[in-house]
Amino acid sequence: MRYSGIINRYRDWLPLADDTRVITLGEGDTPLIRLDRLTRTTGRDATLYVKFEGLNPTGSFKDRGMCFAVTKAVEEGSKAVICASTGNTSASAAAYAARAGLTAFVLIPEGKIALGKLSQALIHGAVVVQIQGNFDAGMRLVKEIAANAPITLVNSVNPYRLHGQKTAAFEIVDALGFAPDYHYLPVGNAGNITAHWWGYGAYHKQGRCAMPTLVGYQAAGAAPFVSGQMVDDPETIATAIRIGHPQSWALAQEARAATGGWFGAIDDAEILETQRLLAQEEGIFCEPASAVSVAGALRDLRAGRIPGEATVVCTVTGHGLKDPDVAIQQGKATRDFLTVSPTLDAVRDVIHGRMR
Ligand code: F0G
Repeated sequence: MRYSGIINRYRDWLPLADDTRVITLGEGDTPLIRLDRLTRTTGRDATLYVKFEGLNPTGSFKDRGMCFAVTKAVEEGSKAVICASTGNTSASAAAYAARAGLTAFVLIPEGKIALGKLSQALIHGAVVVQIQGNFDAGMRLVKEIAANAPITLVNSVNPYRLHGQKTAAFEIVDALGFAPDYHYLPVGNAGNITAHWWGYGAYHKQGRCAMPTLVGYQAAGAAPFVSGQMVDDPETIATAIRIGHPQSWALAQEARAATGGWFGAIDDAEILETQRLLAQEEGIFCEPASAVSVAGALRDLRAGRIPGEATVVCTVTGHGLKDPDVAIQQGKATRDFLTVSPTLDAVRDVIHGRMR
């Protein structure tokens, strides 16, 4: 049967009326990819997978939540949606709003969103408002506006976003036949770790799986869950998770505590190194923020913090094409980007010097 998105696949697990018009772009059904080469570098026998959420219709996991939030907005008769975003939420809101025939208003931090994401919000016809402030400032503004105008807020404080995103956990259990022992996620606003807790929790309640330990990693310059307090001036190259005041603070703390998990931080150099390793050793091109989960899992495996025989899933949240600037900077830094004269000798010289 033709695959037609997360709502049609998991309708029984979502709060939805029978006759609701479903707004879908075929989101979900993303692959679980085993990382054998990178796992070997840890010296452990763990089975490590990535759930490559960058293969969603707009290139990030946000599509699961946006599909459901926009479907519910239409069900409720809304004519417009609004969000603050570090980029991916705005891209997804713009696309799903376009499909539903709604107006999308998106607030983004000026100069701090990756090029691919900005291009998406613009081409899908969202009203793009750059603010001279960060994501947290944008969040305060859109909450205020949505509270006083007939506009649906589609940030992850909208519970339908989390219901949509919990389907990623369902897919993992359905694919493996069991839940992983550990699930690693990059954490910014903390909606997605909460959504996974809900998803595994719903399946667990029905006896379909055990509960995995949920582990959240943040960028070192934007790591309020690690320090235990909000950060007023978050800074990281991983602009997707450049967030200091996470909205799902209490829920994410609960998800961690209830599953025996932990939070950790990865600095920008290690984020970039892991992004490059994923691309060059495994063929998986993700944006910088998405490499944080894999960096955390590799670190914890090496350190023996998780047992060698564990099954581990890392969510890789967004596609690398979202942020071409960072990828090109990384590529140039390796000095394998050359310009030569158009002659056989010149090209042969290059090849000769570089065969492994
Ligand atoms: N990875 C990527 C690529 C993201 O875009 C985000 C969040 C996260 C991880 C963190 O997920 O917020 O649920 O903890 N991006 C939001 C946005 C904030 O506006 O696109 P979270």
